[in-house]
Amino acid sequence: MRPLIEISDLTKSYGSLHAVRGVSFAVAEGEIFGMLGPNGAGKTTTVEIIEGLRDRDGGRVSVFGLDPAKAGSEVKGRTGVQLQQVALYPRLRVREVICLFASFYDRQANPDELISLLGLEERRNARVGELSGGQAQRLSVALAVVNVPELLFLDEPSTGMDPQARRNLWDVIRGFKADGMTIVLTTHYMEEAERLCDRVAVMDYGKIIALDTPRNLVHEHFEQDAIEFSSTMDWSISELRGLDFVSSATAQGSEYSLFSTNVPGTMGHLLKFSDAKGLSIDGMRVRHATLEDVFLKLTGRTLRD
Ligand SMILES: Nc1ncnc2c1ncn2[C@@H]1O[C@H](COP(=O)(O)OP(=O)(O)OP(=O)(O)O)[C@@H](O)[C@H]1O
Ligand SMILES: [Mg+2]
Repeated sequence: MRPLIEISDLTKSYGSLHAVRGVSFAVAEGEIFGMLGPNGAGKTTTVEIIEGLRDRDGGRVSVFGLDPAKAGSEVKGRTGVQLQQVALYPRLRVREVICLFASFYDRQANPDELISLLGLEERRNARVGELSGGQAQRLSVALAVVNVPELLFLDEPSTGMDPQARRNLWDVIRGFKADGMTIVLTTHYMEEAERLCDRVAVMDYGKIIALDTPRNLVHEHFEQDAIEFSSTMDWSISELRGLDFVSSATAQGSEYSLFSTNVPGTMGHLLKFSDAKGLSIDGMRVRHATLEDVFLKLTGRTLRD
């Protein structure tokens, strides 16, 4: 099957700032493709070039077999783009703005179905400018699919949503996929990427530093589970690394993670060590490695840095 999106050696600079430095990937039809990375990694620049909204400096881009920089309107009609702000038309009401956006297209979703899908029933007659952040975000997702697109771009769709709304949105996105939509999603939330995406590109400083299924990314870098604990005291990472069975150790503030080939064995050593050093442990748990661990291992930084 031919990929729906193919980009290779994509580059883009803003003056002397190299925002995208040779990015290549392909997105298959029906896939949820994630782009995960910290602020300024180049995610939005990359997707907006694919959407045909920004010019590129170099590289090839193909969407539906067309170059979006040249075949603008044909690509746009089959594509849905979630705008980061729906500050447009603050005085229009939710249902009105959905109907307005739908009227731009030949193929239109049913506005009331969209309102109920995104949980906006109670706000259908509210003015756009009066929506809460999370509600506005949900409206922006509804507006992105008014034309029943084959390809949907979501740029940090769950930012500002409460945990319940975020989970609902994940269900909605899974529903879009079940309907056959191809979805490209950028996010800072590794949990979102892990739960939703078939494949994830991890981006940092304008480059893709890893690309695979969430499961393979984690397994490739971590065979072991992690022992995690909190402590307000200052532990030496190199001493933690020296404990038996520990393959790596990291600290993020007062949270410590020890990856171990023998979790019970390491726990015993850790407790003895904390006793001997007079270091207190506030809570200890065992967890599987996550994409956040992968990112930290590859870059030495956390996604939130
Ligand atoms: N229009 C612009 N003019 C100048 N610099 C820009 C412009 N847009 C983005 N940049 C810079 O390019 C880099 C990449 O920005 P981009 O918006 O692509 O990152 P991002 O990965 O989407 O980040 P975030 O997670 O914060 O949304 C950043 O350093 C940013 O400051
Ligand atoms: Mg962005």
